[in-house]
Amino acid sequence: MGALTLLAGCDINFWRMDGHQSTINVAGPVAKNQLEIFYVTCWVTFTIFVLVASALAYATIKFKARNEADEHAEPPAQSHGNPLIELGLIGASVLALVIIAIPTLKGIWFTHDVPQADKGDAYTVNAVGYQWWFRFEYPNEQIKDVGHLLTSNELVIPAGRPVHVNLRTNDVIHSFWVPRLAGKVDMIPNRANFLWLKADEPGYFWGQCAEFCGDSHAVMRFRVIALAPREFNEWLEQQSAPARTVSADANKATAKFTALKTDWKRNEAGYTNKYDLNPLEAWKEKQFPDKDENPELITKGRKLFQQKNCITCHTIRGHEGIGTTAPDLTHVGARTTIAGGLLENNSDQLARWIMHPNEVKPGNKMYNGIGAMRGYVTKEPDGKVVTNISVNADEATALVAYLHSLK
Ligand code: CUA
Repeated sequence: MGALTLLAGCDINFWRMDGHQSTINVAGPVAKNQLEIFYVTCWVTFTIFVLVASALAYATIKFKARNEADEHAEPPAQSHGNPLIELGLIGASVLALVIIAIPTLKGIWFTHDVPQADKGDAYTVNAVGYQWWFRFEYPNEQIKDVGHLLTSNELVIPAGRPVHVNLRTNDVIHSFWVPRLAGKVDMIPNRANFLWLKADEPGYFWGQCAEFCGDSHAVMRFRVIALAPREFNEWLEQQSAPARTVSADANKATAKFTALKTDWKRNEAGYTNKYDLNPLEAWKEKQFPDKDENPELITKGRKLFQQKNCITCHTIRGHEGIGTTAPDLTHVGARTTIAGGLLENNSDQLARWIMHPNEVKPGNKMYNGIGAMRGYVTKEPDGKVVTNISVNADEATALVAYLHSLK
């Protein structure tokens, strides 16, 4: 009891269980259904525990050897082979399984796909796993001469509507999990998996890859942002537009963020508590251009984005980027996270990510290159490692200004 009292005094969030990735603090019907099955299982096993523990305690006390004679006494009458007890216990076990099986089977049908009655209202998105980030596609939102709308790391969905999520992978097996909205389902090569989820209210939810997929599996994260219908439509419209252009004479560029933090420790946490209190409002704020934009710096950054070869892997629709192997950055400035949901999208963290990608996400393709496309380092056939891309603090400042202007 003393230990429990001490624990209760700690701010470890243990009793409230409402952390970002809590499966207890549910926010939609699918997660709620799964939580109810969990509770039924808990109650059944708790009942069994109480019954077995009571029988054990009773037997221990009642048949305890109290003196010398007890220790050598004949055992009491045995009930082994008593059909009433044996059949009774089998019956009780079956009953316990049936009690768990009924809500489980109902849950399997309910959580499999959007209920028939709600099919007409369902919204479809595709989620594609990459080592180590998520691409989100909107097959119903066609952009002229481009194809469908796509984004990464942040999945924006309409609140109050069921969402059918097609789960695909570009490489190995990943698993798509938004704990507060629905259980996890694997993204398996050559297999058309899917799940459905629904956020009852607008909100900002944390997601996580839940299947080991290589070096940086543990830091393969994403966010789900549920918006009210009108805001969702506005978001689709904004995202479908080409990249925002801020132009000026790059030669006049003066560094704006003179105090970019550059001495990061490996595995140092990459976010502040800005998104703890009211993350949805913070996300909405992020949709508008920054107040302290420096057009000259942005133009310089846009040039560097080409010179440093970023354009070979990243698309910036309407600007120079045309690559498709890495996240689409057309509106990256409007996202709250970067690096697969690992870092907060602020100036310090973006500079950190651009300057030292391998310190943040070991094994990532931006650093190691992919196929014939070279990353920050290049491994020659003789095993030699050659430094290819390097970004100094001034360049990072300009690149950050450019990327943050992409709202
Ligand atoms: Cu992707 Cu673990």
